[in-house]
Amino acid sequence: MQKQWYSISGGNRLEGTVTISGAKNAAVAIIPAAILAGECCILENLPHIQDVNTLEFILSQLGAAVDFTTGDCMRIDPTRITSTSVIVPEAAQMRASYYLLGAMLGRYGECDLALPGGCVIGARPIDQHIKGMRALGAEIDIDEERNILHARAKKLVGTEIFFDMVSVGATINVMLAACRAEGLTVLANVAKEPHVVDVANFLNMMGASVKGAGTDVIRINGRPDLHGCGYAVIPDQIETGTYMIAAAATQGDVIIKNVIPTHMEAVSAKLMMEERPRPVNIKTLVYPGFPTDLQQPMMAYLTTASGQSTIHETIFENRFNHVRELRRMGASISVKDNRLARIKGVQALHGADISASDLRAGASLIIAGLMARGTTNVSNIGYIDRGYECLDQKLSALGAKISRLSKQAQGRR
Ligand code: UD1
Repeated sequence: MQKQWYSISGGNRLEGTVTISGAKNAAVAIIPAAILAGECCILENLPHIQDVNTLEFILSQLGAAVDFTTGDCMRIDPTRITSTSVIVPEAAQMRASYYLLGAMLGRYGECDLALPGGCVIGARPIDQHIKGMRALGAEIDIDEERNILHARAKKLVGTEIFFDMVSVGATINVMLAACRAEGLTVLANVAKEPHVVDVANFLNMMGASVKGAGTDVIRINGRPDLHGCGYAVIPDQIETGTYMIAAAATQGDVIIKNVIPTHMEAVSAKLMMEERPRPVNIKTLVYPGFPTDLQQPMMAYLTTASGQSTIHETIFENRFNHVRELRRMGASISVKDNRLARIKGVQALHGADISASDLRAGASLIIAGLMARGTTNVSNIGYIDRGYECLDQKLSALGAKISRLSKQAQGRR
């Protein structure tokens, strides 16, 4: 097996133009959603990232005809699906495999699913997904020993569901199942993230009736059949924010293309530069607040601010694993109760050998490497591959000195 890492010689200003790929979090929901159609769907602007490749593999294993060989375009013919059992290791490797539950239940009234994994950033239960499916009439059993969920429904029937907390995953998942339930489903206390709206738009293109996505209440009138369609996924809000932060962190000058600026307001409001980054206080919140997925990249940027910043993580209970690695580069950060980080700005970071603990932690370390004096080696980059398309190529085109290196896994590098 090959061990791969990014080697970065820091200190280069990023300059030029970068084009943002399709949104990971929209793509990983819209691909399973295509199962709901009785015909072929053609999806455009999909990112070539590991999570999308994994879903492509899972759908093919189920019998769907999937073609992802033409640029950013994926053709999915779900009519050939012969199995509703998603008990494959790949499903357990990624968080978003949970969307197969809503799609399969909606389409076939059954699903067996290896419970999702993904980035280790907290407990991440799926009780709200299950609450929603049960409310629609599904019977759900969990085999805790084998970590498998079994779902069956003779018929899904629309109802009112109030989520106990705002969850992106639960909102989308229940929305998928409800599209083919009998009658009206009203979802309250829902997530308003841009990809929730994107999935709703896709479902409506397939003939569903989803109203209110982007507000606190979504109303879904179930339909017995959905048809195929063509759909282009929105640009990635988190990739955009990552390049915005990387540009600011290197005092660069970057034009970012394929962006929806209104999705970026919470980030723009916090990126303030003089000679050095200005210290800011950040609290992660559900959309339209500051996204938890960007607090880690933002922390790297704030390590050299002209004073003390704070980051209060309110969404996940274990999202400061990058702090230890940033400290190894000379950052001065203290963390209280795994929820509140105080970042005292230092003059500069220095290169180090560091390791990504999750996807956005990886992005944070890459940005720190771009800022640092000397060479930084970032290992465990499989996490970064899950969510960033051609990261090294895009950064190199902006003038960064970054290479992807590999070696046989035995021994130390
Ligand atoms: C999604 C995103 C992820 C982002 C997160 C928050 C995808 C594929 N991933 O993750 O990038 O960081 O939203 O914006 O879109 N919770 C429960 N019970 C549930 C569901 C969630 O307690 O049934 C909790 C979670 O543990 C977490 C919080 O609610 O503390 C928010 O989670 P959620 O919005 O569901 O995040 P994900 O869908 O996992």
